[in-house]
Amino acid sequence: MINWAQLPFAYAKTNTNIRCMFSKGTWGDIETHSDENIQLHMSASCLHYGQECFEGLKAFRGKDNKVRIFRWKENLLRMNRSAARLSMQEIPEHIFEKALITLIEQNAEFVPPYGTGASLYIRPLLIGTSPRLGLSPSDDYLLVLFCSPVGPYFKTGVTPVKVIIERDSDRAAPLGTGNVKVGGNYAPALATSLKIQKLGYSSALYLDPKEKKYLDECGPANFFAIKGNSYITPESDSILASITNMSLIDLAAHFGMTIERRKVSVHELADFSEAAQCGTAAVITPIYEIYDPLEDVTYSFGSQNQTGETCLRLYNTLIGIQNGDVEDIFGWNTVLDI
Ligand SMILES: Cc1ncc(COP(=O)(O)O)c(C=O)c1O
Repeated sequence: MINWAQLPFAYAKTNTNIRCMFSKGTWGDIETHSDENIQLHMSASCLHYGQECFEGLKAFRGKDNKVRIFRWKENLLRMNRSAARLSMQEIPEHIFEKALITLIEQNAEFVPPYGTGASLYIRPLLIGTSPRLGLSPSDDYLLVLFCSPVGPYFKTGVTPVKVIIERDSDRAAPLGTGNVKVGGNYAPALATSLKIQKLGYSSALYLDPKEKKYLDECGPANFFAIKGNSYITPESDSILASITNMSLIDLAAHFGMTIERRKVSVHELADFSEAAQCGTAAVITPIYEIYDPLEDVTYSFGSQNQTGETCLRLYNTLIGIQNGDVEDIFGWNTVLDI
């Protein structure tokens, strides 16, 4: 029996995973597997040369018991941008859609019940599988979609956290791969995560890798801030375009706020009334403090115990749409009656 309310953000076995292989220039049929392992040539291009990209999206069960998949087409678009950046085969929409719907139908019992705060996290993965010794793109690719029921990524939920500006390393190079979702971006950031967690911080806030003057993003989440009636979020070539951030921007504009998507300098942190990180895993995690070790300055936003008014309104509206409690005026959900 699953304790839905206490679920961690962690892998849990479900009934099936869905696979599709690209070989000899064409995509094969969608296959259902219950085996959690994949057989791979030891020289596969994904293992040595990093031909690997992935995605993360969620499905939610509503009060009406229907399942809503949030903005999957945006995840597919982003996955295909990642694939193109790594010279990998792009995925046709009909294949991704069939794999996704089949996965959710076959694992419907793992979509957490309405009202638990939990959701079904879906992880699409694309890897180059041809044996390669010299550096060249794979001929063959494997698309896998699997899922896990999850609780919120940050255990503290919408409770504000503190963040530290990372000045000892970069997450991405100026014209590198920071704007796509590829495995190679994440392992190098692990050392930073471990370092800052030991210091009591929840996340590292990375700066633009070229000038170290502007804000980039918070590890696996975008950054945004509130100043007066403005929603401000960094524009940078080295950050991942977050689908949560895109959605919050639309909601903020709908609330009548001004959207400022631009370079945001470190010193502007002093001007913001609210600050937060956003992403699929935790939706919004408010930030109450950002420490800059170079200048030994602490920027504070609101209270440690209370989420700011605008962040809370954005959070409640977005999760309301995802759960089906708030009208989906933007048409973001794909609704399944399962
Ligand atoms: C580097 C990075 N930034 C931002 C995000 C948030 O993006 P999204 O809102 O699409 O989950 C993620 C997670 O996918 C990420 O890995």
